[in-house]
Amino acid sequence: MSEKRKQDHLDLTFKSQVTHKIENEFYYEPLLGSHQIRDLSTTFIGHKLKAPLWVSSMTGGTEKAKLINKNLARACGKFGLGMGLGSCRSLLFSNERIEDFDVKKEIGEFPLYANLGIAQISQLISNNQLSLVDEMIKKLNADGLIIHINPLQEAMQEEGDFLNKTPLDILNIFFDQNKVENIIIKEVGQGFGPNSLKLLLEMPIKAIELAGFGGTNFTYLEQARHSKSESGRKEPLKDFAHIGHTASEMISWINTFIDENKSCNKEIIISGGVKSILNGYFLKERCNLNSLIGFASPYLKYALEGEQALEEFISEQIYALNLAENFILRK
Ligand SMILES: Cc1cc2nc3c(=O)[nH]c(=O)nc-3n(C[C@H](O)[C@H](O)[C@H](O)COP(=O)(O)O)c2cc1C
Repeated sequence: MSEKRKQDHLDLTFKSQVTHKIENEFYYEPLLGSHQIRDLSTTFIGHKLKAPLWVSSMTGGTEKAKLINKNLARACGKFGLGMGLGSCRSLLFSNERIEDFDVKKEIGEFPLYANLGIAQISQLISNNQLSLVDEMIKKLNADGLIIHINPLQEAMQEEGDFLNKTPLDILNIFFDQNKVENIIIKEVGQGFGPNSLKLLLEMPIKAIELAGFGGTNFTYLEQARHSKSESGRKEPLKDFAHIGHTASEMISWINTFIDENKSCNKEIIISGGVKSILNGYFLKERCNLNSLIGFASPYLKYALEGEQALEEFISEQIYALNLAENFILRK
């Protein structure tokens, strides 16, 4: 075995020259760590988690979605992580697709959040039907509600829902009229500018999910969905897929705001374009509010492969977090 290893070293040396170094605000301290297993457990919005990881809202409403959600929720239950469901809009008025989302039994004691878009909240307010939100959360046995704010995504859709009030006004009415206590607000991949973030930090919500720029981008995805963008008619809209804010930018703003308002107790899901678990670790260490690291598309990739692939990926993420805790120190 050892001889084989030594031979591998000779064979692979010239393929193993690395010049790209990830620039960050941390020191690598090989002298100061050991390979100990760390306790990664944490509390987040009132729940105890075994590791600071969150599966960001994705899917529902198709046969495949049922299996994806089951795989994701099962992995969360096993590794002690939290999860947001994809838009549960279809459950507001019908139980036809309930099985796609009905995964509380898989995730068990760990947090599971339902999800609706700001446009649905607006429509429910207009129709005096907000009680359907509570009913939907109960149906799913969910721990709370994520509201996604996605005006650019809606604007790119043929069938998009257009808002006649600002999300800020809609949310203020919602908070006045609604009894749901556990609310998270997120974007869908383009993040929030500093003014929106500051307002979110002052809202009666539990957490903000950054859903920043740099990964899955729904403005781009919706542009790709319909033929008009290919025919060129949507050419003037293309740049809208390339604006927004990264999680890193948003963390800098959050840190400045909480320097000004030390009593802020919001919690943060750092997500959207998080390039790797180590990148997530650096961001989390920089964030001065209690936070988790969230991924959508990276988990989707493995959930589509199956339960085992997903579990292996999460195990490696946890191993990586241990290594980071052991050998990386803040400057
Ligand atoms: C297939 C898919 C479906 C999604 N559906 C929703 C959704 O229904 N509601 C929502 O809030 N976000 C949705 N998102 C956005 C993600 O929650 C996340 O904010 C975004 O993908 C950025 O994260 P990522 O770069 O890790 O993929 C979806 C993402 C994917 C990949």
